[in-house]
Amino acid sequence: MFVRVGFDISPNYLHTNSTSHTGPFSAIAELIDNAYDPGVDAEQIWITMTQIREMECLTFRDNGNGLSSDKMLEMLSFGYSDKKAEKGKHPIGIYGNGFKSGSMRLGQDAIILSKSENEECVGMLSQTYLEKILAKQITVPIISTKKPGEKHSGSEMWENRASLSAILEHSPFKTEEELLTELEAIEGPTGTKIIIWNLRRASERNMELDFTKENDIRFPCDDTSDTSVPDYNSSLRAYCSILYLKPKMQINIQGKKVETDPITKGLTNPHKKYYTPKTVKEKIPIIFGDNRSKTKYGLMMYHKNRLIKAYLRVGCQLKAKNRRGVGVIGVIECIYLKTTHNKQDFEDTITYRNTIQNVASKLRDYSGKRRINSRAEAVIEISETSISNTPQTSGEGPSGTKRPRRNCDDGESVTDRVLSNSAAPTLLPQLIPYIDVEKKELQEANSKPNERKTATEGPNREPELKGEAVGEGECQPF
Ligand SMILES: Nc1ncnc2c1ncn2[C@@H]1O[C@H](COP(=O)(O)OP(=O)(O)OP(=O)(O)O)[C@@H](O)[C@H]1O
Ligand SMILES: [Mg+2]
Repeated sequence: MFVRVGFDISPNYLHTNSTSHTGPFSAIAELIDNAYDPGVDAEQIWITMTQIREMECLTFRDNGNGLSSDKMLEMLSFGYSDKKAEKGKHPIGIYGNGFKSGSMRLGQDAIILSKSENEECVGMLSQTYLEKILAKQITVPIISTKKPGEKHSGSEMWENRASLSAILEHSPFKTEEELLTELEAIEGPTGTKIIIWNLRRASERNMELDFTKENDIRFPCDDTSDTSVPDYNSSLRAYCSILYLKPKMQINIQGKKVETDPITKGLTNPHKKYYTPKTVKEKIPIIFGDNRSKTKYGLMMYHKNRLIKAYLRVGCQLKAKNRRGVGVIGVIECIYLKTTHNKQDFEDTITYRNTIQNVASKLRDYSGKRRINSRAEAVIEISETSISNTPQTSGEGPSGTKRPRRNCDDGESVTDRVLSNSAAPTLLPQLIPYIDVEKKELQEANSKPNERKTATEGPNREPELKGEAVGEGECQPF
């Protein structure tokens, strides 16, 4: 059957619609989501670059439940989506657009081959084909057979002969045998293979994506020496490793499994805090922790298990001169927010803004505690150094102890504050009370921000601490 997929939708719309994906990885994510979503429930997806008739093709093969020809028609139409949550798994796809925008962002043309329980079918969404036939509306050829498992025996098996001729003429598969071989190459009883060709080019000579790196697909950055560019921007493998908060499907890129990197597991000093949005009345956990990499930090925002925004700097992390929050990752799953249709952002609503504000204040809180802890560590380190150095020659200390100068993470010298208490060997027992006093000061300062005695504060600290809620009770080690 030839199907017109929408009343008067011009073929140009395929390109227009694809521009919602500014980069290729978000387009790829749409195709991965479709394999992951309930109803399809693939356990594995393979993303591979192959050559067919000397054309570079990007292929996505999954072992999910496949498609019937009716479903294939919905897949190639705009705005149909009837996915439902199943067994606690919420569908990421809701707009009925991701396949079209994603595939057409990656290349000009796509063919879908699918095996479902009762049917095998093939459909094609091709800008090149629509251009060649001077189509005024988007038209998609779909062919199907209801005889899976039986030996394929010639052209009479296919319904929709006109569509078959269009597919053979305009896709990389020039004979029925080639098409059938490709269908049979989908291992297992059910599954789907999407092949995209006429891939987008960066220039006449270069493809947009770089397939030359072993087991990866890269989106080249101009300046790779800039370590502040997080890998997930340039490496599909790195991007896929964080794409799902709780990975439920194995992703394979260029023949190699992606090791999932659940962000929360790699964090040191993890703490869980809670936020209750007014509109939801449900406690939403936010996990904070220190990242292994100090250049990658910020808020990871997930929606229905899927990464929407990565390393978003919030609150104190936005202030260049403020080192608070540097290296801290926050992870939140905001099922109560609405994503934009490219799934790279959230709708800018009051609830979204309140979420960011709340995360920012909890981040301040977490970072404040982390600073206290790092001071404690610095103090212990210094006292140990002092013990091994005692007695020392004269100098700067009140008891004649030489005072090594070490800086806390806010640039404040700790030696002056600690060593002035007494000589080094007796310092250690006094450390804990010192920290307690400082915590108490902090709490007092927060409860009465205007009455703080500046004498107990370092000169740099006052503005930062104003209005902070230390919130001891809600910060739970995890
Ligand atoms: N790999 C696949 N296996 C089986 N069915 C698929 C596959 N990919 C897409 N589909 C079907 O095609 C339909 C359209 O997919 P599409 O991504 O365009 O929209 P969606 O996932 O419903 O919504 P969204 O635009 O939010 O992604 C899906 O609802 C699904 O039924
Ligand atoms: Mg989708």
